[in-house]
Amino acid sequence: MRMYDIIMKKRNGEELTTEEINFFVEGYTNGTIPDYQVSALMMAIYFQKMNKRETADLTTAMVNSGETIDLSAIEGIKVDKHSTGGVGDTTTLILGPMVAAAGVPVAKMSGRGLGHTGGTIDKLESFEGFSVEMPIEKFIKNVNEKKIAIGGQTANLAPADKKLYALRDVTATVDNMSLIAGSIMSKKIASGADAIVLDVKTGSGAFMKTEEDAFELAREMVDIGTHVGRNTIGVVTDMDQPLGFAVGNALEVKEAIETLKGEGPEDLTELCLTLGSHMIVLGGKAKDSDEAREILKDIIKSGKGLAKLKELVEAQGGNAAAVDDPSLLPGASIIKQVAAPKDGYVKSIKADDIGIAALVLGAGRETKESKIDLGVGVIIHKKIGDFVKKGEAIATIYANDEEKRKSSEEILLKAYTIVDEKVEPKKLIKGIVTKDGITKF
Ligand code: URA
Ligand code: CA
Repeated sequence: MRMYDIIMKKRNGEELTTEEINFFVEGYTNGTIPDYQVSALMMAIYFQKMNKRETADLTTAMVNSGETIDLSAIEGIKVDKHSTGGVGDTTTLILGPMVAAAGVPVAKMSGRGLGHTGGTIDKLESFEGFSVEMPIEKFIKNVNEKKIAIGGQTANLAPADKKLYALRDVTATVDNMSLIAGSIMSKKIASGADAIVLDVKTGSGAFMKTEEDAFELAREMVDIGTHVGRNTIGVVTDMDQPLGFAVGNALEVKEAIETLKGEGPEDLTELCLTLGSHMIVLGGKAKDSDEAREILKDIIKSGKGLAKLKELVEAQGGNAAAVDDPSLLPGASIIKQVAAPKDGYVKSIKADDIGIAALVLGAGRETKESKIDLGVGVIIHKKIGDFVKKGEAIATIYANDEEKRKSSEEILLKAYTIVDEKVEPKKLIKGIVTKDGITKF
């Protein structure tokens, strides 16, 4: 088999066989096929596309390129959740304990990663002493006993995807549906999930700018999941503005605690109920999403979700007292409001820029080596459709450095567009994609 022939075949719009896909993924992973040939192939795929079978084969080949995590010693159906990204996504901190409290095992491998704020692990490290370091046996034991554990990504999962993603990033071939879908799903499948709930974001702060593209991506991922025998559901949701109010590590932990108490932001609560109810159905603990939603509401009302968060923090060495007394979490020395420059309705909030306003304060990593300041971040007070008066606070900045606070404020002010005409609030949940089809709301 020759790489040249594979490139030409795809360039001419033909379908690649399973063997051909395995050949280039293996060859690229072990270094026998050079970057320039794989770049050419990625560009050919970008223009000629791949069908369902090719996409599923690519995903499987990437899964098989490295280690896979065996979670078969965990009782029950392991349901994982993945979000295609967004600003200050606090859902994992809320969904994990809620779903675990419903009896669905949550075996979560999380990352630190680059971004506006830290990853789930960084956020959880706001609890002094919290650690994800533990042998796999302890991880499995915790999930079996407590229904929840959060581990670090130590295994060498889907290395072919790592290499391909980096190559696509510099060759203008990221935004092909099959390639994105395969990339995301390969990592979920390699990390041992039996079933997967995908939160596919759409809007200015998301990868998929249009709803049409988001539904298409969700469908691609559901097709892959179905093809490889993992029950998968995609929920398409709005990311035209940040979710909830808090962007920043300890601030998001506080927001998660409030949401678990039933006192969280409306949109964040709704998203957690929606995603959580699908997780519970896939996990076999409710017959449909209406029943699951009632279970989740009860978990909030009874305090079982909050208790589960405490249990998780304690089990992994963290100071669980901070769940009841969030003043024990890292804080900021400078707390200052940002005033609206004029009267009017909020027309748009550039979610990415709100993220950057938190990043410049030190809430996220600019490089892999950067150290995160867990106490800093931004709380926004106004969302799309809200009326504001000139001088009223649209946001509050939590900073530990006055210069950084000033840059953050400038970015925040530019992120908001305020207009005279009334603006309709955004619809949060746009629709659901299952193996049976697409339902738009
Ligand atoms: N996220 C991924 O993990 N892969 C892609 O290709 C795009 C976004
Ligand atoms: Ca948030």
